[in-house]
Amino acid sequence: MKNRAIKEEGASQNTVAALPVGGLRGDVAVPGDKSISHRSVIFGSIADGVTEVDNFLEGEDCLSTFAAFRAMGVEIERPSPSRLRIHGVGLKGLTEPGDVIDARNSGTTARLLTGLLSAQPFFTVVTGDASLRKRPMKRVVDPLLRMGASISGRKGSTLLPIAIMGRRLTGTDHSIIIASAQLKSAILLAGLYAQGQTSVHEPGMSRDHTERMMQLFGADIKTEDKAVRVKQAKSLRACAITVPGDISSAAFLMVGAMITRSSSLLIRDVGVNPTRTGIIKILQKMGARIETINTREVSGEPVADIRVKSEHLACTDISGSDLLPAIDEFPIICVAAAFADGTTTISGAKELRLKESDRIAVMADCLKKLGISVEEKEDGIRIEGRGGDPLQGVKKVKGGVTIESHGDHRIAMSMAVAALNTAKGVTIEGADAVDVSFPGFFSLLSRIGVQ
Ligand code: S3P
Repeated sequence: MKNRAIKEEGASQNTVAALPVGGLRGDVAVPGDKSISHRSVIFGSIADGVTEVDNFLEGEDCLSTFAAFRAMGVEIERPSPSRLRIHGVGLKGLTEPGDVIDARNSGTTARLLTGLLSAQPFFTVVTGDASLRKRPMKRVVDPLLRMGASISGRKGSTLLPIAIMGRRLTGTDHSIIIASAQLKSAILLAGLYAQGQTSVHEPGMSRDHTERMMQLFGADIKTEDKAVRVKQAKSLRACAITVPGDISSAAFLMVGAMITRSSSLLIRDVGVNPTRTGIIKILQKMGARIETINTREVSGEPVADIRVKSEHLACTDISGSDLLPAIDEFPIICVAAAFADGTTTISGAKELRLKESDRIAVMADCLKKLGISVEEKEDGIRIEGRGGDPLQGVKKVKGGVTIESHGDHRIAMSMAVAALNTAKGVTIEGADAVDVSFPGFFSLLSRIGVQ
């Protein structure tokens, strides 16, 4: 069947016309998990021995982490784009980079490295692109200062660039007020080097890939209730890691399949860590029948195949705790809500204003352009879904509009998915942002889109 989900426009690939389709069909895999790919480079670099990584995400964000460790003297071979052979230098083997570390758009690179670099016996400067230089660093810097770190940066050390002079750190107990895996991981990485024991108590359970990977590499780390504690490590041992498919990337295909008429999709080898499967729970609450099959454990992470079909979705209320294990899925949940029956409210989501873009404001704006009635709130959004007749499927929206990604990969992909059920498609400006986490997204959508 002829596919026509995507048409490239203009001289630049930066503008893409995403077109309507009848459904998404096929048997597919999504690229490797972004969070786990970052961590595979970090732990592989500071372990003893050679870490082999398979299905590494060759997205821009993970390549920022990759470049940072190469700049600190780690030999990393790349026999193919998604395979790495990391020659670990041990906990004490990193060397001072000759230039600033540019995390570009990657909050995970900037924040996790700030924790690690606080304990290295050398000087570094970390910076990022215009978007990252606006995102908060204070939450990471403050607890590290309490451990004895020496960090100074722009606007009272709250914003990048920051300068770090590595020091001997002291194990400290932290009670953090925001559930954030980036913050928790920065502290735990510093904790690997800090004298004694370091603990982090979170208000809710953020993604635990750092804890799982630390365990895999032989660190002394334990999680009890909402607190994680790590002891100073003498060494880490190299591992073989197969990175599961990213559930946050699969989420776009899941919702795309649901809001179109004739979809049937199998997405293979997706990470289904319980701290990440909020999207499945939310879509199930909206009436989706999502099947996870063939669940198994790979490199310390649960992995499964996900089967989705077209679905008539109902509205729902989503709280902050529902959203925590689906923190990156806010934009695509907004799209699902736009095509559901009734009014969906999302609250307790203030953090979403501090992501790659202000995702609450940007999604409100994008959905309004599609003719959806939306009310933006300080900590969330209220979306009046289009719905439709359960027998006919979900109502199409008009489309024919142009939206701007604001350099945010998840906004670009969410709007490409919304376009699948429009009369006239959506033109996306700043479409190359998708390379941050899902290179090949548009061509995959094109391949599986059917009339
Ligand atoms: C990430 C943690 C999350 C998430 C980000 C990746 C990670 O951020 O939004 O895309 O890899 O640790 P926060 O920890 O700031 O919520």
